[in-house]
Amino acid sequence: MAAVISAAGLARTFRTKRGPVHAVRGIDLTVHEGEILGFLGPNGAGKTTTLRMLTTLLAPTGGTATVAGCHLVTDPVGVRRACGYVAQSGGVDGQITVREELVTQGRLYRLTKAEAVERARELAQDLGLDGLLDRRTAALSGGQRRRLDIAMALTHRPRVLFLDEPTTGLDPGSRADLWDLVRRLRDEHGTTVFLTTHYLDEADALADRLVVVDHGVVVAEGTPSALKREHAGSADASLQDAFLAITGRRPAPADAAPVAI
Ligand SMILES: Nc1ncnc2c1ncn2[C@@H]1O[C@H](COP(=O)(O)OP(=O)(O)OP(=O)(O)O)[C@@H](O)[C@H]1O
Ligand SMILES: [Mg+2]
Repeated sequence: MAAVISAAGLARTFRTKRGPVHAVRGIDLTVHEGEILGFLGPNGAGKTTTLRMLTTLLAPTGGTATVAGCHLVTDPVGVRRACGYVAQSGGVDGQITVREELVTQGRLYRLTKAEAVERARELAQDLGLDGLLDRRTAALSGGQRRRLDIAMALTHRPRVLFLDEPTTGLDPGSRADLWDLVRRLRDEHGTTVFLTTHYLDEADALADRLVVVDHGVVVAEGTPSALKREHAGSADASLQDAFLAITGRRPAPADAAPVAI
C-alpha cells in the first residue's frame, strides 16, 4: 500500500510569555492510501496541533512531512488541494442556508456558479442533507451541522480527509451515521481518513489502524486488536484497558455514551 502521509520528526513549539510550550515533540508516522487512521491521545497530547500542521494551517518548527507526495513547506498549495479538514469545533454558523454555504465553498475552490450549484446538490445527496438545503445553518442540529462541515470539506474531492473529533457531542444514532459515512468514503471513493476521537469504542469499530500520542510523541501504534493484545494482554480486552496501559490515563470524556457496534 502506498503511503499518502508520511511525517518524520514533525514538531511544533509555541513561544508564549511563560516560555516555550512543546506541543508536538517529534511525530513519525505513515498513513496508507485508503486507510482509516484513528489518532488517539489524552487532552493536550498534541493531536490538533499535528492535524493543523499536516493541513498547512500551522507551520512546523521541526521535522518534515509529505501529504499526497507534496511537501508541507515547499508545496503547501499541493497539500491543500489533497486535503479536506474539519476542525475540532464546528465551523459553520449563521443566517445563510445550507445551499448557500455549500455553493460558497465551491466558489472558493474556483468552481463556476453552475458547477458549484451542481456540486452542492451532489454533496447534499451524499451526506443526507438534501431535505435541509434551504434551512439556515444556525437552525441545524449538532449532527446535521457536523455533516455540513464534512460536506464542505469534501467539496474539492480530497484524497485525504482530516476529521478532528467529528462525533463529539453527537447522539448514538448520529455517530453511527457518521461512521457509515466515513466507511463509504473509503470504500466508494478510496478516501484516506485521518480522525481523532476520545471515544475508544468508535476508534475500535472504525479505524483500520491506531496511532496513540502522548506529550507530543507517538507512544503506540497498530491495529486495534494488536494494541489490545500487546498492552491489555488479549485481543478480547477492551481498548480502554489498552489506552490506560499505554498512557496511564483514562480517555476523556469518561462518560462517553456507548454505541452499539
Ligand atoms: N497556540 C498555542 N499556544 C500555546 N500553546 C498551545 C497552542 N495551541 C496548543 N497549545 C498547547 O499544545 C498542547 C497540545 O494541544 P493540542 O490542541 O494539540 O492537543 P489535543 O491532543 O488536540 O487535545 P484535545 O484532546 O484536548 O483536543 C496543549 O498543551 C496546548 O495547550
Ligand atoms: Mg484537539
